[in-house]
Amino acid sequence: MNELSNTASTLPRHIAFIMDGNGRWAQKRGMPREYGHRFGVKAFRTVLEYCDKLGLEATTFYAFSTENWKRPRREVEAILKLMDTYLAECEKKIDEYAFRIVFLGDKSVFDEKRRARMIRLEELTAMRRRILNIALNYGGRDEIVNACNRLLSENRACVTTEDFEKVLYTKDSPEVDMIVRTGGDLRISNFLLWQAAYAELYFTDVLWPDFGTADVDAAIAEFSTRKRRFGGV
Ligand code: IPE
Ligand code: IPE
Ligand code: MG
Repeated sequence: MNELSNTASTLPRHIAFIMDGNGRWAQKRGMPREYGHRFGVKAFRTVLEYCDKLGLEATTFYAFSTENWKRPRREVEAILKLMDTYLAECEKKIDEYAFRIVFLGDKSVFDEKRRARMIRLEELTAMRRRILNIALNYGGRDEIVNACNRLLSENRACVTTEDFEKVLYTKDSPEVDMIVRTGGDLRISNFLLWQAAYAELYFTDVLWPDFGTADVDAAIAEFSTRKRRFGGV
């Protein structure tokens, strides 16, 4: 470890966002929850571009959890439709698209068309440097169980931490330095359970559709004040 590793005085390499508060944002405006998700996509675009401009190596966005299927069908369909629109656009402009897209989560629940597009986008962008992880049908517990099953299928007698990390959905990304949750709730909601081990946690009351570049700056400023000891002194 170098001297800098004790203090996060540099830019985080990887921030993961729990984009929470879309529904409340819409309800405050007397609108249906779907309206909030639409504006949530706008915030996602702004934050992604800004993090790229700042030079982050990877960003992760929690778009849909393994538990979010419990929501009314209409809302689930609206979220997936917004996702499809975004992905179709990425595909159309693939030559200009700057990111390596990686989907975190179990794709097998999606229909053939959506799954094929997800895989295509991952393949077409595989050579790009900057990573955009989209957590879709993602659950931290599911990720860990899925990793166990992958390792079991290899008939290993025992595994190391490194072996385990190689089969997590985040295997291509640098360590998560910070998890940012908008919307005011102080919980993880099954996000990046393994990766959260030494991530800095940052919570803000700002609802996701209102979250913008100044809020990213505030989170990074806070990050730079944290003393990261990783169990040391
Ligand atoms: C987060 O916003 C987006 C998803 C879970 C897809 P919510 O929809 O959870 O918004 P709130 O928390 O109900 O306000
Ligand atoms: C977490 O938000 C999931 C996403 C942002 C995709 P939720 O709104 O689903 O979390 P809970 O239900 O408040 O824990
Ligand atoms: Mg929520």
